[in-house]
Amino acid sequence: MHLLSRRRVPLISLVSLLSLALALVRPVASYVSADGTVVIPGASSYNGLNLVPQMGWDNWNAFGCDVNETLVLRTAERMVRYGLRDLGYRYVVLDDCWSVGRNETGFLVENPKTFPHGMKYVADTIHSLGLKFGMYSSAGVFTCGRYPGSLGNEQKDADYFASVGADYLKYDNCFNQGQSGTAQISFNRYNVMSQALNRTGRPIVYSLCNWGDDNPYDWAYTISNSGRMSGDVYDSFNRPDSRCPCTEAIGCAWPGFHCSVMNILNKMASIQSRTMSGYFNDMDMLEVGNGGQSDNEYVVHFSMWAMNASPLLIGTNVLTLSPANLAIYSNPAVIALNQDPSATAAVRKWRYFVDPDETGEGEIALWTRSLNNTDQVVALLNAANTSMMMNATMNDIFLDPRTAGAYQAPPQLSETWDVYDLWANRMSNAEAGAIINGTAMNLTANTNSTLTRYNATATSYAQGLLNNDTALLGLKVGSIAPGGTWSAMIPRHSVGLYRLRQRESKVVRRKDEL
Ligand SMILES: *[C@@H]1O[C@H](CO)[C@@H](O)[C@H](O)[C@H]1NC(C)=O
Ligand SMILES: *[C@@H]1O[C@H](CO)[C@@H](O)[C@H](O)[C@H]1NC(C)=O
Ligand SMILES: *[C@@H]1O[C@H](CO)[C@@H](O)[C@H](O)[C@H]1NC(C)=O
Ligand SMILES: *[C@@H]1O[C@H](CO)[C@@H](O)[C@H](O)[C@H]1NC(C)=O
Ligand SMILES: *[C@@H]1O[C@H](CO)[C@@H](O)[C@H](O)[C@H]1NC(C)=O
Ligand SMILES: *[C@@H]1O[C@H](CO)[C@@H](O)[C@H](O)[C@H]1NC(C)=O
Ligand SMILES: *[C@@H]1O[C@H](CO)[C@@H](O)[C@H](O)[C@H]1NC(C)=O
Ligand SMILES: *[C@@H]1O[C@H](CO)[C@@H](O)[C@H](O)[C@H]1NC(C)=O
Ligand SMILES: *[C@@H]1O[C@H](CO)[C@@H](O)[C@H](O)[C@H]1NC(C)=O
Ligand SMILES: *[C@@H]1O[C@H](CO)[C@@H](O)[C@H](O)[C@H]1NC(C)=O
Ligand SMILES: *[C@@H]1O[C@H](CO)[C@@H](O)[C@H](O)[C@H]1NC(C)=O
Repeated sequence: MHLLSRRRVPLISLVSLLSLALALVRPVASYVSADGTVVIPGASSYNGLNLVPQMGWDNWNAFGCDVNETLVLRTAERMVRYGLRDLGYRYVVLDDCWSVGRNETGFLVENPKTFPHGMKYVADTIHSLGLKFGMYSSAGVFTCGRYPGSLGNEQKDADYFASVGADYLKYDNCFNQGQSGTAQISFNRYNVMSQALNRTGRPIVYSLCNWGDDNPYDWAYTISNSGRMSGDVYDSFNRPDSRCPCTEAIGCAWPGFHCSVMNILNKMASIQSRTMSGYFNDMDMLEVGNGGQSDNEYVVHFSMWAMNASPLLIGTNVLTLSPANLAIYSNPAVIALNQDPSATAAVRKWRYFVDPDETGEGEIALWTRSLNNTDQVVALLNAANTSMMMNATMNDIFLDPRTAGAYQAPPQLSETWDVYDLWANRMSNAEAGAIINGTAMNLTANTNSTLTRYNATATSYAQGLLNNDTALLGLKVGSIAPGGTWSAMIPRHSVGLYRLRQRESKVVRRKDEL
């Protein structure tokens, strides 16, 4: 195949390996770009990709090993038809169980029964739909489904992925031959594939799936674009499961699996600062639509993943998606949080245990996040068993500026903030149903957005936010007086999700006051 035939002779490849290794350790000279900004190469994204979290679909949560060409391509077509591609869900990721082994020269071979036209055909078809193609392997001798893994075959496999036209690699942690236990050992093992992908010359988003083992959020951002920070999610809101024993990310010796939405969310609280443009903490694929949670709980799941800048990978059967679940996946005001140029995660300002239900701890929490344009996001999360009046005070929201260095009263506390409810304009089941059955009005160049729908292919989220596009802002539901409190009645297992915008004032703020 094309890229394979261009493989370098050993001497050159040794030289390029050495120079690459040097480039990775040697400080790279910064320079001033044409528009006057200082550019430090590699300081944002190690390979220039994934400046905001990746979005897409992955078959694993809904189908496991039961995958084939038809499923992948029909899903891709449906993602276009439902407007999901144009909401930003770009990567169609084929997870484990696609191969039948290696050929005589050691390259991976796709299963000819389930992928009868070969993998390049799948990638080409996905590309022709304006989507990108993701593939899967493991940094072990086998994948988790016990198909051949890439440990020891990294360059051959990277060449295979590039040759078929993959744009994304999800790289798991099963059967790693004990090459874990310290950050350095894990770094070295995952770095081999990082360099192999780089040598293919093809831009490939590199998504680590090592479950938070050896704290990837402390070392993976110079070699990858995202890293899982917990054991696998399962379709439960808060049920504890013995197979997911840790409740904190730090010091977790056994990530396990069957981790609930609340379990994974709370693990994010301590590692919040380790999310950055080009490297995102991956809270695992979404379960919305798989049937194990209530509508309110799925809204919490989607909201908190978006707010924490987790990759958003649809993890359900798109072909049978219900109107209600399409409406959750399609909320542009919530996706805009996820895709905000700030590329930061949220801060859990407080958490109290109040009213346990049959499965959970009964907690309530306040999460907040600062966005690029000085907007704030506030999530009043009620994971307790009864409805509750919940309160977000300005003192809590602006805790960080209040406590930053030499004390001065934060200017934010003397301003009025308008409050926008980000779920108020959720599309109705009737509208979502009409999208599903093909009778909905199409967006046009004159209607790239409506209150409920948005076309991010036409206008990026960053630009839409600069335009104050109402699809991204939600519905204004009130305001907070200087130093005041936002209170709302939040039902059991629900979230109130708000964007706060500073009301226009005549006082011009200096940048160093932010
Ligand atoms: C492809 O996979 C889907 C989902 O598992 C299954 O329903 C379908 O029967 C499969 N089709 C073929 C042709 O194997
Ligand atoms: C093995 O697979 C690679 C990659 O698909 C291909 O280029 C090569 O021709 C195959 N070799 C044999 C012997 O089939
Ligand atoms: C390979 O790595 C270099 C140095 O980090 C980077 O500039 C380049 O964009 C990378 N190329 C690919 C294809 O990832
Ligand atoms: C949770 O609330 C329900 C009513 O919504 C009640 O039936 C149940 O007993 C409560 N569970 C606990 C553990 O209090
Ligand atoms: C981020 O916000 C600043 C103003 O604070 C603005 O100048 C810049 O354009 C924004 N970046 C993007 C990508 O929207
Ligand atoms: C929110 O404030 C109201 C009014 O002060 C109070 O009644 C309520 O208990 C507070 N809610 C919580 C969860 O503390
Ligand atoms: C399509 O969905 C709309 C809205 O839910 C509904 O009114 C209409 O009857 C549906 N049409 C068909 C052909 O199913
Ligand atoms: C929307 O566009 C699609 C694809 O171009 C087309 O098949 C469909 O009929 C259009 N729907 C309406 C209501 O015009
Ligand atoms: C979004 O915009 C792109 C390019 O402007 C266009 O090709 C596409 O059909 C639009 N999608 C929808 C769902 O309207
Ligand atoms: C819609 O997007 C297209 C680019 O795809 C742009 O030319 C057009 O001006 C946009 N329309 C509106 C109303 O923003
Ligand atoms: C968007 O809203 C902000 C805040 O109200 C305002 O400063 C800005 O001028 C608006 N931008 C546009 C393009 O209307």
